[in-house]
Amino acid sequence: MRYGHFDDEHREYVITRPDTPLPWINYLGTDAYFGIISNTAGGYSCYRDARLRRLTRYRYNGVPADSGGRYLYLRDNSSGEYWSPSWQPTQGDLDSYECRHGLSYTRISSTRHGVRAETLYFVPPGETLEVWRLRVRNERGEPADLSVFSSVEFCLWDAQDDATNFQRNYSTGEVEVDGGVIYHKTEYRERRDHFAYFACSEPLAGFDTQREEFLGAYRGWDRPLVVERGESANSVARGWAPHGSHHVRFLLAPGETREVIFLLGYWENPREAKFDPPGSAVLNKALVRPVIDRWLRPETVAEGFRRLRESWSSRLSVLQVKTPDEDTNRMVNIWNPYQCMVTFAMSRSVSLFESGISRGIGFRDSCQDLLGFVQLAPDRARARILDLAATQLASGGAYHQYQPLTKTGNDAVGSGFNDDPLWLVTGVAAYLKETGDETILDEPVPYADAADVRPPLYEHLERSLRYTLDRLGPHQLPLIGRADWNDCLNLNCFSAEPGQSFQTTENVAGGSAESVFIAGLFVLAAREFAMIAERRGQISEAACYRAEAEKMAGVVAEHGWDGAWFRRAYDHSGRAVGSASDDEGQIFIEPQGMCVMSGIGLHDGTAVRALDSVRERLATRHGIVLLQPAYTRYHLELGEISSYPPGYKENGSVFCHTNPWVMIAEAMAGRGDAAFGYYKRINPSAREQISDVHRCEPYVYAQMIAGPDAPACGEAKNSWLTGTAAWNLTAITQWILGIRAELDGLRVDPVLPAAWPGFIATRRFRGATYQISVRNPDRISGRVMHLEVDGRRIEGTLVPLAPSGAIVQVEAVVG
Ligand code: GLC
Ligand code: GLC
Repeated sequence: MRYGHFDDEHREYVITRPDTPLPWINYLGTDAYFGIISNTAGGYSCYRDARLRRLTRYRYNGVPADSGGRYLYLRDNSSGEYWSPSWQPTQGDLDSYECRHGLSYTRISSTRHGVRAETLYFVPPGETLEVWRLRVRNERGEPADLSVFSSVEFCLWDAQDDATNFQRNYSTGEVEVDGGVIYHKTEYRERRDHFAYFACSEPLAGFDTQREEFLGAYRGWDRPLVVERGESANSVARGWAPHGSHHVRFLLAPGETREVIFLLGYWENPREAKFDPPGSAVLNKALVRPVIDRWLRPETVAEGFRRLRESWSSRLSVLQVKTPDEDTNRMVNIWNPYQCMVTFAMSRSVSLFESGISRGIGFRDSCQDLLGFVQLAPDRARARILDLAATQLASGGAYHQYQPLTKTGNDAVGSGFNDDPLWLVTGVAAYLKETGDETILDEPVPYADAADVRPPLYEHLERSLRYTLDRLGPHQLPLIGRADWNDCLNLNCFSAEPGQSFQTTENVAGGSAESVFIAGLFVLAAREFAMIAERRGQISEAACYRAEAEKMAGVVAEHGWDGAWFRRAYDHSGRAVGSASDDEGQIFIEPQGMCVMSGIGLHDGTAVRALDSVRERLATRHGIVLLQPAYTRYHLELGEISSYPPGYKENGSVFCHTNPWVMIAEAMAGRGDAAFGYYKRINPSAREQISDVHRCEPYVYAQMIAGPDAPACGEAKNSWLTGTAAWNLTAITQWILGIRAELDGLRVDPVLPAAWPGFIATRRFRGATYQISVRNPDRISGRVMHLEVDGRRIEGTLVPLAPSGAIVQVEAVVG
């Protein structure tokens, strides 16, 4: 069952009924000002940091989950009837409803009793404001006397305090209303230099800024007193809950349309020019007012929207493909890169599954996110890499998370997730391959705990590898620390009391548990680093790390191989985890994907054996589950993984992030049907038909899909902010379609499903455009035999770099 459809031409998903199984959201903003918006206009906004600079309020565990939002009410003044044109929060009957989620914008339209309303929500590129452009049209045969009421609830900036510190909050709220604009300025009188504003393009019939005056006591947003009455209270908030509402009233002739623009924005004044007059407590509006006036003009809004659309067209033109598979095309051309940009911007902070207050930018998460967006925004990738490297510690370890606004590491979580630093190497390698910009390696970057030393980035990479080599365990495998990629495999923390952190409770001496996964990742990272070192002429260093990679691969072969698959780890007491000798948790997906991706076992048959074991034991029709059999009881020595009921999250769900590793591994093994088969199982567009089972948005990946051990098998959760986005884009474009950036050229080495006759693609790479055509005349699921570049046959599959501006024709034949 579906709740809408794709409109590929406009790059939109069109939701045709408001009661989707869960709120289906979209993101506004691409630079610094961001928000989420659901298909019924729920959601909130923030500036750069969802915890420290929250503009509008969100109620945790609210029902429904998207309640609180960018709400508008229409009121028919002749009957007194009112409704929400976005359905929520009044949930009144609508004669028609449609929500179009596009790339960084959402348009919700509906009709009720001959009044059509269409609202476009977006953030203009480069601005720190969001536009709501409302168009109301009278489709009746007679004039309509209408009112529009807007409504937002302000957050008192620090979202954590806002949600908890009521004794203070109820007394600090302050606003000003001036020239029709509502200014929210809580704490501006003291240490904040920023404020929010909410403006409207039309003359106001009234306004409200005190929530309780707007809603009325004991009422919610579904029936605000002011709207019911048709008249604002012109309230000015002092303490309690600052709120913003405009009232606009107009008479529409039959067929007439009225456009009303609302702006919700963020502004920062220079500290020395905060007040007007100086020394008063009155906001200086001189700097922001021209911005407001400009954006209240319809032509500015139209132009801003055009620029937003264009910026996406240009970003997406980096890679466009035409394959025989519609689900592949729309994910690769539109939605998957879009999701990658969102995960880059938000890391794991803002969604309906991430509260925006608990996690900042994750080190390993962001390093992996780089893989999915480096080609879309190389400059921003560069800046992000340098920020991440600056949260590395002198030991080579890294803060697990940092706050985007302050860029300081989160002490509460600290470091000691021993895979973290290795991802920096893979992220930087991806950046170098895409851009060729080796200057980044010379950028001086401090360590978080030694700000006075600023070694070049290159040294950070080396130290990342050393960090692993300095921490080998009894089998010479890398020590796992608090956890590796699997945050829930906590082998050095025996948590027996509720409320203890599974990761950071320090109660086991020595921490001797080892990770086969990190071993695989080390081999991958060490080989990438060797390649980088070689480019810099560091020949002996390159050789050293190649040798270390070899050695580690040998250790994996000796201690990491279980007979038919790779083991996962050794626990604190030296017992193998992920072994046939156990009853539960016999096989884990992560080491199968990671070891094969790093090249281990590709030449001795173990890689293929491991992949066959994945197919036999882990593959389901909804994707590949993380482990089998799922843990049925809590294991003190394994930690959080066994805290989840079987089939959920790390305990045996289809943890989608890991599936592309297996797709890549299958492609490396030359098995295109298997790789693509796995790809289709979790491709959200391919699951659209079962939206009632899947329940999350059909246009983006979710972190997990419940596995067969769970009662709700096939149900997705944690949509949007997941490493799944970057890895799936990598798997399908770089390994199945086989188009991948390398230091010296563009690799074209597809491993296709046998049924495909071929595909075409356009790839912009280092200033040149490659028009690629792949044919598969014999319908095989194998590799390219030869390439022709501009009509000339070349050796191998690496298309050499072309001069900037060149258009290069690449013909590839499989078989
Ligand atoms: C979540 C975390 C990520 C971790 C994964 C597996 O996606 O954001 O860091 O690797 O879970 O536990
Ligand atoms: C929980 C989740 C895991 C996530 C972690 C982040 O352990 O199961 O997916 O990575 O929280 O702290």
